[in-house]
Amino acid sequence: MTTHRLHPAHALRARDVRVAFAGTEVVAGVDLDLRAGEWLGLIGPNGSGKSTLLRSLVRLVPRTGTVERGDGTPPGPTDLSIMPQSPELPPGMPVVEYVLLGRTAHLSWLSMESRADRRIATDVLRRLGLASFAGRPVRSLSGGEAQRVVIARALVQQSPVLLLDEPTSALDVGHQVEVLELVDELRREDGLTVVAAMHDLGMAARYADRLLLLERGAPVALGTPDDVLEDTLLSRVYHHPVRVHRLDGHLVVLPQARAPHTPVSAPVPLAPPPHPRSGHRDLGDGSQKPMSRKLGPAGPHEEVS
Ligand SMILES: Nc1ncnc2c1ncn2[C@@H]1O[C@H](COP(=O)(O)OP(=O)(O)OP(=O)(O)O)[C@@H](O)[C@H]1O
Ligand SMILES: [Mg+2]
Repeated sequence: MTTHRLHPAHALRARDVRVAFAGTEVVAGVDLDLRAGEWLGLIGPNGSGKSTLLRSLVRLVPRTGTVERGDGTPPGPTDLSIMPQSPELPPGMPVVEYVLLGRTAHLSWLSMESRADRRIATDVLRRLGLASFAGRPVRSLSGGEAQRVVIARALVQQSPVLLLDEPTSALDVGHQVEVLELVDELRREDGLTVVAAMHDLGMAARYADRLLLLERGAPVALGTPDDVLEDTLLSRVYHHPVRVHRLDGHLVVLPQARAPHTPVSAPVPLAPPPHPRSGHRDLGDGSQKPMSRKLGPAGPHEEVS
């Protein structure tokens, strides 16, 4: 799909990246050394600075420190593309137009996207199983469909470095694998370099070459998933006891329950339905409420209860 090849310029180096809001540092001195074609998983509890770090790399938030490509030059507008955690979905905009916004960085001043741009967008939509959604308003999609469309927008930019902020948080298990496999395929075939913030530690371990664990904005561990996913370290950083297991060759992180779960001993019976001709329904407390008279759509003065 893309023309990237493993190239030193696709590597990414960052030194002492820091971001502060109102005097409070939320990214506290992060270094990155990404080889071209590497996948780095960014993990850490809520508020540990994952999104802010990703956003700072593309200057969506002010930062200090340096960020450069592998050849030592500063990244340009087409070098890094980001899939944000909470994107703005413009009202009324069809999916294909939204995805085409990902080509904006490639367009010159006031120029329109070309047939080639549209072909790239259509191809990405097809590869993500979204072709049939192309004409739908982006706001009309389900949460998981919309998340895949936002990923599509990041992919059509065809940048050598892809920053993904929780790309699968709204996806069912099948679509999680489909999306991550596609990104992995692009990484292997085209030398795409990936930084992906993820809360599913098992999934992060499955795809990442290395994991970077953040705690209150600071890096506390960097290494292979085997090195970083360690019971004592994770339990301390996540403030909850966890156990790391190996299942079918994959790492699985299981939180320990605070108290043993006690299932309901006997199923609670459902309340019987109201008698169709009674005109009343049981509220469960002995009282009854009149049922609405009409079963069709509610008119302006009718209440369907
Ligand atoms: N624009 C902002 N103004 C003030 N504080 C901010 C701003 N953006 C982020 N923060 C704070 O910075 C900290 C890091 O936030 P960030 O969104 O990077 O965390 P995160 O690791 O991505 O969390 P999550 O897992 O919940 O997505 C949080 O305490 C957050 O409240
Ligand atoms: Mg975040």
